[in-house]
Amino acid sequence: MTDIAHSAQLTALLAALRRAFVGEARPEGAAGDELHRVAKLIAAADEQPGPLRPTSHPVTAHLPEVLARAEPRVPELAAALRPIASALPWRYGYAPRADAPGLESAMAWAELIGPLAPIVSTKVCFGLTLIGPHSFYPPHRHPAVELYRIVVGEPLWTVATSTSPQNPGALIFHDRDVVHAMRTGAAPLLAIYSWTGDLNTASVWA
Ligand SMILES: [Fe+2]
Repeated sequence: MTDIAHSAQLTALLAALRRAFVGEARPEGAAGDELHRVAKLIAAADEQPGPLRPTSHPVTAHLPEVLARAEPRVPELAAALRPIASALPWRYGYAPRADAPGLESAMAWAELIGPLAPIVSTKVCFGLTLIGPHSFYPPHRHPAVELYRIVVGEPLWTVATSTSPQNPGALIFHDRDVVHAMRTGAAPLLAIYSWTGDLNTASVWA
């Protein structure tokens, strides 16, 4: 696959992700305000992507199931993701922890827009998070303001002290430094995420 072919596929994927992320109705309150802000920043960052550097991360083993689950609900996004999903820059960046062995193989994210991403922006990060089934992403926090839009999966989602089941299509807002955690069940989780604000301070275990 040439860089030019990847570039066209990545541009198509970003367009599909933007539509799925923004959705059809603007939510009330802080989540809606942040969604509007992110949409404008993503549009401003829209440019020719740089080359992809695939990472062969083991989380890509879950892509066939994720694509099969996405196909009926979001066929346009599934079609855009399918040809390039395994070539995205999936990575994991946390320190190891003894109580979560194998987490570094069970989850990863692929940043498509951001300071170090194929499309460079210093104002917004935008990409995909993928977590395998029966996995726990332990409590963590970061100073960036975060949004997630669930594409696939029915995870249990904790924000501060509140835990609730979530479904595809849900939009979840994490204000700066709010502790959050996710637990997947039988299905893997694929979600679109954004960060604004402090993009340079990494997420840390809470
Ligand atoms: Fe987060």
